[in-house]
Amino acid sequence: MFSPGAVAEGGAARLKTRATSTRLLFAVPFILAGVAAVVLVPRASADAPRQVPAPVPAVQRIFLSDCAICHGSDAHGTNRGPTLVGVGRASLDYYLTTGRMPITNPAAFLGNPNQAIKRHEPYYPPATITALEDYIQTLTGPGGPPVPHIDLNANRAAGGEVFRLQCAACHAWAGDGGALLHREAPELHQATPTQIGDAVRVGPGLMPAFGPAALDDHQLNQLVTYVRYLAHPEDRGGQPLWHLGPFAEGLVAWAIGMTFLLLTIRWIGERK
Ligand code: HEC
Ligand code: HEC
Repeated sequence: MFSPGAVAEGGAARLKTRATSTRLLFAVPFILAGVAAVVLVPRASADAPRQVPAPVPAVQRIFLSDCAICHGSDAHGTNRGPTLVGVGRASLDYYLTTGRMPITNPAAFLGNPNQAIKRHEPYYPPATITALEDYIQTLTGPGGPPVPHIDLNANRAAGGEVFRLQCAACHAWAGDGGALLHREAPELHQATPTQIGDAVRVGPGLMPAFGPAALDDHQLNQLVTYVRYLAHPEDRGGQPLWHLGPFAEGLVAWAIGMTFLLLTIRWIGERK
């Protein structure tokens, strides 16, 4: 008996069987993988204890993952970053506490060798930074300037004289920073006393280093006291005019004075 309904039903059943077998075919690799996992994994984990390397100290792990790619696993430098031999603790302290290291975007760095290395929140807590400094010194040996101990009870005015002679050309007379070829001299108001001391002794980037022969520890204290003062200067008398300097302030005074004078002259002239 011919019944279109029965044919359709039979077709649907065949289709369903085919779909099921296709699905089974797809499942085969997974089943095999499951069986392999059950058979192989216990043996692998039984072998594991013998293959695990000796535990790596946390700080060495940080150095290997965050610094070694540029400075080398022995800290002797690669073509992407300089050797750290002889840089000293002051340099490590400066670059790590000002968050300038690690440079976090190697691709951008490689694309642009002039990339400015900017101040940033430190990437590690102070204890980790000290541990990193200790660890790196074991790789490089001692040498280089130590972190200076700064005493802020020093003569500020004497420090101001040193600042205007040695620092203002780049950082501007109020410490607001200035332009250099390719790299900017940063503003100084965020730097801590120790970071200022580090920078003076180390001479990071394009900044010259000032060793104890150029500035003894006493003069360094005075200088740092003055630089910290610049972060909150007492502006005596009126508008500070954004600390633009004597020329700009003179110009403003001149412009206001001249306008006033011209208006007065006009007013007198019209009274006749
Ligand atoms: C992407 C590459 C890169 C990474 C990652 C990196 N550095 Fe650097 N580092 C540099 C380059 C390039 C310089 C040179 C900067 C300059 O001349 O201003 C430098 C300079 C330094 C200096 C100053 C060296 C000197 O001669 O005065 C120190 C210290 C330093 N890095 C420490 C570190 C530490 C510690 C880490 C890991 C926490 C790190 N760096 C991660 C590329 C890198
Ligand atoms: C030739 C120009 C030049 C002179 C002179 C100079 N600096 Fe710098 N200074 C720089 C540059 C450039 C940097 C940024 C370096 C870097 O890449 O980390 C800098 C960085 C600093 C920093 C770090 C600021 C921060 O926010 O992290 C301090 C602090 C500093 N200088 C203080 C001084 C003092 C104090 C003097 C005078 C004894 C001085 N500088 C003289 C160019 C100069």
